[in-house]
Amino acid sequence: MEIIFSGIQPSGIPTIGNYIGAMKQFVDLQKEYKCYFCIVDQHAITVPQDRIKLREQILQLAALYLAVGIDPEQASIFIQSEVPAHSEAAWIVQCNTPLGELERMTQFKDKSQKQVSVNAGLLTYPPLMVADIILYDTNLVPVGEDQKQHLELTRDFVDRFNSRYAAKNQEILVTPEVKIPEKNSGGRIMSLQEPTKKMSKSDDNAKGFISMLDDPKTIAKKIRSAVTDSSGVIEYNPEEKPGISNLLVIYSSVTDFTIDELVEKYKDSGYGDFKADLAEAVVTWIEPIHERYNHYLHSEELHEILDRGALEAQQKANKTLQKMKNAVGLGRKPKR
Ligand code: AQP
Repeated sequence: MEIIFSGIQPSGIPTIGNYIGAMKQFVDLQKEYKCYFCIVDQHAITVPQDRIKLREQILQLAALYLAVGIDPEQASIFIQSEVPAHSEAAWIVQCNTPLGELERMTQFKDKSQKQVSVNAGLLTYPPLMVADIILYDTNLVPVGEDQKQHLELTRDFVDRFNSRYAAKNQEILVTPEVKIPEKNSGGRIMSLQEPTKKMSKSDDNAKGFISMLDDPKTIAKKIRSAVTDSSGVIEYNPEEKPGISNLLVIYSSVTDFTIDELVEKYKDSGYGDFKADLAEAVVTWIEPIHERYNHYLHSEELHEILDRGALEAQQKANKTLQKMKNAVGLGRKPKR
């Protein structure tokens, strides 16, 4: 069975963008693949975090994974920092990655501009992500579009590592493929306030995102105040009408309507009616998720699932780590 790995940072409460770009794919793919879904808490501390909130957000994300429909019988759900192989492998990745490649990463450039002082961890975030992926012999990585460049870096790393350390015609590490939703299926959900900017859970302006834990009133209010344009025509045209196009993608992602069906349905309506229906659709979709989330958040079951997930992940990751150490020559030769 082919293998999937993906992760989300507990750097805030996931947004509907994280759901549509990543979690929705996790749920859809879990039956066909052996899946490892990680809560990448070590990635979250590449920018300052409040330690109390971070710990809360780790469990909230775990509960949300389950609430949106990830099945712990089919997928291993675990916390990155509970599988030490990630940090160990990341060091080997860093020592085999040219500095220039990391300095070119657009996420590093964007995020470092927002920081008063930039941690080295922000620069070495991609090698940690490479380590996350390769440790599981991952074939496929479902992510949003913003992670495409990091996946290209991962593939380049695997090529370099295999050609440097593997015997001729053999490979030590598996080359992963990336899986991004189609453009009109939510690979990049935009901010509700600045529809040319990606929706982000750590946006200072909470009106820009719909949090997966927002209550119905807040959701309706945020959708009502979403920035659109003055034409009043509901059509999908991300270049010229990014606001309304983004709302159409959200609407079609949480219902069974395609974008074309929505455009037809609202051809004689104004933005006000469209937004009111969209708010209702989002609330109808999210309410059962909230119910399941509340069930899991303070349950023993959540901890049992995370304990089991960490053990399953360790078993797989430690084997790959040992292969990497052997390739590079770290430690002593393992006893047979
Ligand atoms: N706006 C988005 N549209 C579609 N997919 C998105 N993803 C993030 N934002 C969108 C996808 O969600 C997954 C988890 O992302 P992450 O938490 O690892 O980090 P990120 O990509 O940096 O997401 P955020 O929400 O912007 O987090 P912060 O604000 O902490 O930096 C990834 O698959 C990502 O592509």
